[in-house]
Amino acid sequence: MKEAAASRRNSLPDTSFTADRLLLFGATGDLAQRMLLPSLCALNADQLLAPDLKIIGTARSKMGDDEFRALARDALTKHLSAERQGEIAAFLERLSYQSLDATTLEGYEELAGKVGDRSDGLAIFLSTAPSLFEATIKGLRHAGLTQGKVRIGLEKPLGTDLASSREINDAVAAAFPEERIYRIDHYLGKETVQNLLALRFANILFEPIWNARYIDHVQITVAETVGLEDRVAYYNDAGALRDMVQNHMLQLLALVAMEPPTSFDATAVRDEKVKVLRALRPVAEGEVVTGQYRAGAINGEAVPGYDEELGKESDTETFVALKAGVGNWRWNGVPFYLRTGKRLPERATQIVVQFRSIPFSIFAGRGARTQPNRLVIGIQPEENIQLSLMAKQPGLDREGIRLRSVPLDIAMPHAFSGTRRRIAYERLLLDLVEGDQTLFVRRDEVEAQWDWIDRIRAMWSDSGLRPRTYTAGSWGPSAAIALAERDGVSWHDE
Ligand code: BG6
Repeated sequence: MKEAAASRRNSLPDTSFTADRLLLFGATGDLAQRMLLPSLCALNADQLLAPDLKIIGTARSKMGDDEFRALARDALTKHLSAERQGEIAAFLERLSYQSLDATTLEGYEELAGKVGDRSDGLAIFLSTAPSLFEATIKGLRHAGLTQGKVRIGLEKPLGTDLASSREINDAVAAAFPEERIYRIDHYLGKETVQNLLALRFANILFEPIWNARYIDHVQITVAETVGLEDRVAYYNDAGALRDMVQNHMLQLLALVAMEPPTSFDATAVRDEKVKVLRALRPVAEGEVVTGQYRAGAINGEAVPGYDEELGKESDTETFVALKAGVGNWRWNGVPFYLRTGKRLPERATQIVVQFRSIPFSIFAGRGARTQPNRLVIGIQPEENIQLSLMAKQPGLDREGIRLRSVPLDIAMPHAFSGTRRRIAYERLLLDLVEGDQTLFVRRDEVEAQWDWIDRIRAMWSDSGLRPRTYTAGSWGPSAAIALAERDGVSWHDE
């Protein structure tokens, strides 16, 4: 295990160090219970954490180490798979806890005491309300917790618009250089998202045709069946555009559209992504549709409407579909249709690359029709890559030639059976502890994302756009279908 970690470290930039302290802010919160603790426990079970790594949790609730371990045990019992349950006890030994009121300076010295010797490196992970970020950074500075080998991970939301995101970025930059700041977009931790880079840049096939000449349009869908869940306050202020498009969907778009980086390292990859984000052309009024779900049924089960879940009326969009474009040589004129929503009929994240028709069909005179090729990259729940190809239907062709589109289908779990599928936070927490920024978002990327989103929101308020209603369990307002159909495009819903 040590050798693997050492060889990984050797391939990372010099600024990297493997921290032997991990300090989790928001340690009793929902994300910690559902994702962070289970991810760390799984890494521990697979001996991927250095033996001396200590994990210190902190949050407002007053409790001791034992109570925190009990809380963690309950969360792990609930969220880890049956075969991992036996691994909980050993993991709990790494945990300790210090309660903290993040808004006052006093408690930070005690927290530093709890963290103890950090000469080998400290990784801090902030998953608290963004309103606490500034105070937390101040407290960390006060207690000397920003000095030396320290890096900080920041969970979303990083602001609500460009101005507030800049404020957060400035506050963090006052204490940490950019090379020590790890902004999380958990989509980048997903295996199939990273696979997009392998597909594009480890194969010769796609890159020569990955441009406006051969690609008709791209669709990116992130569909969810869940509704508001327990996130009333946050979600009703955010809405789908800021919750999903600003971060995850724009990162997916950037990975699809970016130029080949010169290497797979943090600077090269992020340099290319940010160029795409800056080249996003403004969205016009008729190019966006928003919606809010009303009562309906999903998988045969009745679900309430958004306003009922919320307990009041609201203008927040739970669905957004829009037509984006990248103004550069490679992509000029190619629409990128983005669509995301809550309470849609199924959970599905996928990218569809629709190629253009062949320039001339030698089969037309024999009655055969051809369909353009299509590449579908399934990110979740199915991880697969499907390329539709035209093939001749078997037969003697007495009544003309019949061609049919057939899929070349790679199911990733099948192709890599026997390899454990890791959840995004396992990868990202390990990268945070070991110091690899490649899958984290740089300041200029976040700000380019907000800049584009702010313009869309300004356009909404100028035009008085309000969400249309859609029935839970449908694919959103019919206007979203019309948005694509006006261009002769159908959303890929299978
Ligand atoms: C989060 C959003 O960032 O991503 C949630 O705040 C959303 O609203 C979630 O449900 C989706 O993540 P995943 O990994 O389940 O697709």
